[in-house]
Amino acid sequence: PYIYFITPTHFRAAQKADLTRLSYTLSHVPNLHWIVVEDSDKLTSSVAEILKSSRLPYTHLNARTPKDQKMKYTDPNWTLPRGVEQRNSALLWIRNQLAGVRSGVVYFGDDDNTYDLKVFGEMRKVQKAGVWPVGIVGGMFVETPILAKNDQGRSIIDFNAVWKRERPFPIDMAAFAVNITLILQNPNAMFSFDVPRGYQESTFLEKVGIHRYNMEPLAEKCSKVYVWHTRTEKSKLSKDLIEKLTKKTGFNQLEA
Ligand code: UGA
Ligand code: MN
Repeated sequence: PYIYFITPTHFRAAQKADLTRLSYTLSHVPNLHWIVVEDSDKLTSSVAEILKSSRLPYTHLNARTPKDQKMKYTDPNWTLPRGVEQRNSALLWIRNQLAGVRSGVVYFGDDDNTYDLKVFGEMRKVQKAGVWPVGIVGGMFVETPILAKNDQGRSIIDFNAVWKRERPFPIDMAAFAVNITLILQNPNAMFSFDVPRGYQESTFLEKVGIHRYNMEPLAEKCSKVYVWHTRTEKSKLSKDLIEKLTKKTGFNQLEA
């Protein structure tokens, strides 16, 4: 099955660096379609160039986060949900362009995470919704479903999450992938600004009709970490500062 890898992305000093690294990972993966959605008013040429150089099949979209939902540069990153508008725009594209498709898997991959190539093999095993451990997230070294001991690792009995473990799905966006048919059959499954912090994953998974204990545990019975929720250190170079430096030096750094 084809993998549809949805990546929201927004401008910051490390955007090109993060996307370049991600493109080099994804370029090793056969049968992967990269859907990149920029949080901007229009498509930018710097992202377009990265997509083109990747030689992957891709779709380049933009969807700007509404002003009242956008964080200030100095806000801590968790004050508002990120990627909502962008992931919805990718889902809409899938529903419009891939309406008749019967096979494929959809994954939401942040531009700054780290992906072992093995995670893509796991995704291709997904029947309805697959789940696996994620490294360095939610205050844990490994956040993971917990499986029953004596049934060949088929059933999930709990989750080891400590952060908001009362959530219907106490997992990160990077922890799951769903069959494209669930996306197509459930057009109301969208992300929303109107859910409590940490509930994006749960809201979406509930809307595609999945139950937490019916997810398919992957990555060697959830014993392996194939994706890490890494975060790139935030630079002091805000867009304003980069523009100021450009004016001051006469060298357009944004075009480099
Ligand atoms: C964590 C999860 O890993 C995300 O999948 C989830 O969207 C986020 O929490 C959340 O709760 O909203 P985290 O690493 O804290 O993510 O967030 P970022 O990596 O800063 O953002 C997630 C994605 O959205 C990234 O690909 C980023 O480029 C994009 N983003 C971020 C935008 O498109 N616009 C923004 O203003 C900020
Ligand atoms: Mn991230």
